[in-house]
Amino acid sequence: MTDTTLYPVPQSALDHTLCDHDRYMKMYAQSVEDPEGFWRDHKDRLDWFKVPTKIKDTNFSGPVSIRWFDDGQLNACYNCVDRHLETDRDTVAFIFEGDDPSVTSTITYGDLHSHVCRFANILLKNGVKKGDRVTLYMPMIPEASYAMLACARIGAVHSVIFGGFSSEAIAGRLDDCQSDFIITADEGIRGAKTIPLKANVDKAIQILKESYKQEVKKVLMIAHTNASVPLTSGRDILYHEELETVDADCPCTPMNAEDPLFILYTSGSTGKPKGVLHTTGGYLLWASLTHEYVFDYKKGEIYWCTADVGWITGHSYIVYGPLSNCATSVIFEGVPNYPDSGRFWEVVDKHQVNIFYTAPTAIRAVMKEGDHLVTQHSRASLRLLGTVGEPINPEAWNWYYSVVGDKRCQIVDTWWQTETGGAMITPLPGATALKPGSATRPIFGIKPALLDAEGTILEGAASGNLVILDSWPGQMRTVYGDHERFVQTYFSTYDGMYFTGDGCRRDEDGYYWITGRVDDVINVSGHRMGTAEVESALVAHHHIAEAAVVGFPHDIKGQGIYAYVTCNADIEPDETLKSELTKWVRTEIGPIASPDAIQFAPGLPKTRSGKIMRRILRKIAEKDFSNLGDTSTLADPSIVEDLIATRQKE
Ligand code: WT7
Repeated sequence: MTDTTLYPVPQSALDHTLCDHDRYMKMYAQSVEDPEGFWRDHKDRLDWFKVPTKIKDTNFSGPVSIRWFDDGQLNACYNCVDRHLETDRDTVAFIFEGDDPSVTSTITYGDLHSHVCRFANILLKNGVKKGDRVTLYMPMIPEASYAMLACARIGAVHSVIFGGFSSEAIAGRLDDCQSDFIITADEGIRGAKTIPLKANVDKAIQILKESYKQEVKKVLMIAHTNASVPLTSGRDILYHEELETVDADCPCTPMNAEDPLFILYTSGSTGKPKGVLHTTGGYLLWASLTHEYVFDYKKGEIYWCTADVGWITGHSYIVYGPLSNCATSVIFEGVPNYPDSGRFWEVVDKHQVNIFYTAPTAIRAVMKEGDHLVTQHSRASLRLLGTVGEPINPEAWNWYYSVVGDKRCQIVDTWWQTETGGAMITPLPGATALKPGSATRPIFGIKPALLDAEGTILEGAASGNLVILDSWPGQMRTVYGDHERFVQTYFSTYDGMYFTGDGCRRDEDGYYWITGRVDDVINVSGHRMGTAEVESALVAHHHIAEAAVVGFPHDIKGQGIYAYVTCNADIEPDETLKSELTKWVRTEIGPIASPDAIQFAPGLPKTRSGKIMRRILRKIAEKDFSNLGDTSTLADPSIVEDLIATRQKE
């Protein structure tokens, strides 16, 4: 049962707020009635080298085209670093908390400026030019942010690949965006375990050469653990050596508002991952504005987003949003359960964190270890608790609210996507009363709508597919190198509307409740995995003839990956093959794509036209055998009986 109680706005949020309920209502109304005027006013939160006179030029149908602040010029790095120097040179930008709790350091805006300038000069010295794509494969250390900002400073386009992806995945992404410059570290450390980043990069370069006939020119390596790793002369360069040779000053390249800022790969329901492209002006404005309003951020507060910079959350809410607002943020290298599952709250006390932003999966993981790990830490500094990545179940919400937040902190459940650049449906502290499990209401400029399968817009309380009716500045502009795929994926389901891929319910108070993906995307621990991607990895194994992958409920991860595989005729399936397949998927995609369960299937349920009936496979994985729905179009009903019999035995 969902809890429909309205939790009143906590006093702490009312005392603090920059936007109370009336102001939110007024601003929201203005933003949707007069987007031009609203964004003309709000563009001034950024520093422009050339102030835009054009504001909104967007089209969701006909030729789909999204342009904001088109004739403006700015630099994202300038807005995140340089413009703060005069007043805030000594303000702390980052507090680094290592995986090892004894490792801590602080980086002021003045320090950040010289680190980023040097980094940018290293890139320039090694031939990186405006518009080049630079790939990052990094641990969660401050240098990852320096690298991103250095790219932005000189107009290079960064493509960050999460450190949990495999060499195969890196190679595919290098090829897709034709990137020949990689920034990495010798190793990463998470939960006292090392991750062989440089070795993975070496292997990726090998694969790139063999399978894609492409070369990488340079690998810039940061010594993080000082492990001894093989170096390729002429190709590999050492950050610490290069640092000695460059200047601590580097000018910011003026960029057009619509020049690309970064590419970030994300999974879709079909094919290989898409390179989501974000541009400079609109994205930065969106990251900046949403960071300030959603977290009600005020200068001097300590803010901590636990995401990794390999995901959009890290881009928008560790790097671009907070830095553009001159915030002080914690950068955390570790994991929630090391040295123990009280680590979050230990760090909260240690650095006196006021604002804490994490994922429901992390909340569930620490929740199960017991309240004492929370209550033994004071947490008195906390004022606001945020979540992102997947629907939060009311049980976890209540635990976060009552146990972690002692019922005095504002909760913000923020719904958004890699594609949206920043938060879209979210409470605003001090403005929005809460309901556990609801992302509540749209932020400024966002016009959500719910549609039925026929494309009719549903009014009032209703359930349907979630679309957004008009553009907002933080919207992705295209799929890198494949605009047709962008149009197909987001604008072809419902003509003239941006389709999110999510199902959603709106209640009688106008609150939105995201119900999860309606396409073939699985949300594993708040990370997107395309079923097609995992399936093609599985069938690439020489013993496997066919595979079908679905999501199923998982206590901690939200959704787990359930794989049905059909072996080649001469193969006797057994437990050894199961673990071999799990390992195989880890190498093909990465640990985050590891199947949680594999079921051998002599055949897969298909329609007479050969389409796999995933709906049935989902039900079997959920052990919901009584409710398989219409099975009349099945080519061979005995296959389903067989799958059920095997599942029942487990
Ligand atoms: C998908 C986007 C946004 C950054 C992290 C994930 C799901 C995200 C919520 C939320 C319910 C959520 C949606 C969305 N999602 N936040 N607060 N409540 N669902 O970014 O990898 O692009 O995934 O995550 O299904 O479509 P992403």
